Amino acid sequence: MTSRGELSDRLWEDFEQSNPHASRIRRLLADRGDQVVNDHIGLRTYGDARISVDVLAQPFLGEGYVAADIYVFEHKNLYVRHYEHPDPSRPKMVISALDLDAFSFAFQDTVRGLIDQLDRASLDRSDLPVAGRLWDLTRRQYVLLANESEYAAWVAAFGFCANHFTVALDALRSFDSLEALAAFLQEQGFGVNVQGGEIKGLPDAYLEQCLTLADPVPVMFADGSLDVPGCYYEFLQRHPLSFGELFQEVETDSTDRISQRTDPL
Ligand code: NI
Repeated sequence: MTSRGELSDRLWEDFEQSNPHASRIRRLLADRGDQVVNDHIGLRTYGDARISVDVLAQPFLGEGYVAADIYVFEHKNLYVRHYEHPDPSRPKMVISALDLDAFSFAFQDTVRGLIDQLDRASLDRSDLPVAGRLWDLTRRQYVLLANESEYAAWVAAFGFCANHFTVALDALRSFDSLEALAAFLQEQGFGVNVQGGEIKGLPDAYLEQCLTLADPVPVMFADGSLDVPGCYYEFLQRHPLSFGELFQEVETDSTDRISQRTDPL
């Protein structure tokens, strides 16, 4: 396969193509003279050794990324690790995996059946994080997963790609707050996720976020097409700590609210 450059660029190309609202927002910001800097890119997988966070991270390590903090959100059955590049202009990668043991046997069988479809060559791909969906499934299987976990259903429908891109508010000079940005997005006709509040997180937590609604996109399943929630665009403000460093944690507990946003059914 010919190289299309860094994995982060390829993640963006695919993200933009399948989520036109993100592309329009980025263009609107650029038209205002704002510099769009990606703080991080969120990727999702299942907690199965064959496609674990470590497996998905390998190609990023090959690009010079290094493993950083681990977060465990037990109430969401999520294991999360973030990866940083020595070049601070490169976005962090935030890779999360869903603990399958917390779900029903039918759910686990369905997910493992998807992963069983991957051959060794697929699992060894150096472009696995941008490989897209490498398995087939039916609409019934999608709905079965969605009934227990929107996260699992999203991974089943879209496979390996960016779940969200996150823009650093501090680099957007024409906005001085997330509130101003949220108002602008709404004026321009974009949906903003208001579950848990338009602005998620608290200044005390040093980190606040605003998210667009995930537009439904048509996905082809083995037995026909279904419109399902796609990806979202995230905006993040890191508040300076007293010693002047920007807080480097990547996800707040608003991960809870984030995952509710793409509730599909
Ligand atoms: Ni995020």
